[in-house]
Amino acid sequence: MKNNNNLFAKYDIAAPRYTSYPTVPYWDNAPTTDEWINSLNRTFDKEHSPWSLYIHIPFCESLCCYCACNTTISRNHDRYEDPYVNCLLKEWDSYQKLVPALNKQALKNIHLGGGTPTFLSPNNLRRLLLGILSNVQIDKDNFEGSIEVHPNYTTDEHLEMLREIGFNRISIGVQDFNLNVQKMVNRIQLPQATAKTVSSARRLGFASVNFDLIYGLPGQGQKEMINTIDKTLEFKPDRIALYSLAIVPWIKPAQRLFKDEDLPSPKDKRALYDYAKGRLLDAGYIEIGMDHFSLPNDDLAIAMNEGRLHRNFMGYTDQQTDVLLGLGVSSISASPDCFHQNQKILSLYEAQANKGIIPTMRGHKLNEEDQFVQAQILELMTKFKIYFSDDAQAQSVKSRLEPMIADKLVSFDGNTMSITEEGKGFLRVICTSLDKRLLRAKPQTITFSKAI
Ligand SMILES: C[S@@+](CC[C@H](N)C(=O)[O-])C[C@H]1O[C@@H](n2cnc3c(N)ncnc32)[C@H](O)[C@@H]1O
Repeated sequence: MKNNNNLFAKYDIAAPRYTSYPTVPYWDNAPTTDEWINSLNRTFDKEHSPWSLYIHIPFCESLCCYCACNTTISRNHDRYEDPYVNCLLKEWDSYQKLVPALNKQALKNIHLGGGTPTFLSPNNLRRLLLGILSNVQIDKDNFEGSIEVHPNYTTDEHLEMLREIGFNRISIGVQDFNLNVQKMVNRIQLPQATAKTVSSARRLGFASVNFDLIYGLPGQGQKEMINTIDKTLEFKPDRIALYSLAIVPWIKPAQRLFKDEDLPSPKDKRALYDYAKGRLLDAGYIEIGMDHFSLPNDDLAIAMNEGRLHRNFMGYTDQQTDVLLGLGVSSISASPDCFHQNQKILSLYEAQANKGIIPTMRGHKLNEEDQFVQAQILELMTKFKIYFSDDAQAQSVKSRLEPMIADKLVSFDGNTMSITEEGKGFLRVICTSLDKRLLRAKPQTITFSKAI
């Protein structure tokens, strides 16, 4: 890629990851809790309206200092485990009372994220999952249960219990296999620990194993990336998420624990991604949308080939549902016309949920324009291509992207815009050309991480 240096200088701008549209900083029209509940009831009143469930478990025993997620760091299991599970069950109980049709519609998938969901003991996890799943409709042949795990805190007992309950996907946090990088980010994870989790998951029959990797970490250079990809390929995970390190120290002060000079330059960071991507493609992986790869026989690759790929708050998925219900501190939910986020401060979330109050922190009611732009950004992010039915919009996007067209990152054929192979690495930046709210009002403060 000959011109890459110039392209980075030009396009390494702050841009959203577009796991939602409008992006969270542009939410300006919050539903009241009643409006949120009405939106759920309206959606579930339809005869067939399958849904998804996300449960956030924020606890981690130690702080990984690159982490941008909502976490509570503690080793005090007695203080947190039982009360938090009780609180989640209380929140679930409130939803069941307010949205009775929830129990009549099929739950298509459940995802446990964090934090470290296996911070909870197998018994507490079972209590939580059975407390919820015993009351819902599940089509066993089409159910997907997935969990994010950190190998250092995951036992065979956890995995056996999850398989018994019907979980079939596991996402293993790896990030980087090199000790020098692991020390810099305060996450020592021996390859043997990762190997043990992978082999237990395979032995127990998890149908899909995902690895999370990050490029752009402190201390990470070409040598480290070669080793990380070599080791990853030895395990042959079905899916790989290769995330760009999101640097957001104004939200996550622990990211100030590493110095700017320890980070790869934007050009070197991009080279790490290009190297990893080349190796994964050579090894037979398929590139899925932005920063995801999967083996050709994995459901994500199949969904992409069949034009069914979807993207939501958790990233790419083949499971599109009208409703994503999020339980737990900071969780985000979505219905066709509303977003809703729970309180982000643990004590506030617990206090409200325990009183039987839906712990609303903020949200957004999507207007017609939001729904239109949301569909367009989703199309571009899942298909790398979009057709504009409106000539005027095609022309205005085209003129906005003139420099990217000249740099061969985007091309137009009539009203169809396509992203070139080289342009795929600039997907977030290209999506900003459709983002009407961002175009109308650029953020006044630092809001998004850099796109590359
Ligand atoms: C919610 S985290 C939890 C994973 C699990 N607790 C673990 O530690 O392995 C899910 C994934 O988000 C990614 N992630 C977290 N912080 C990030 C950041 N600042 N930039 C890019 N990816 C990040 C990591 O790859 C991580 O595995």
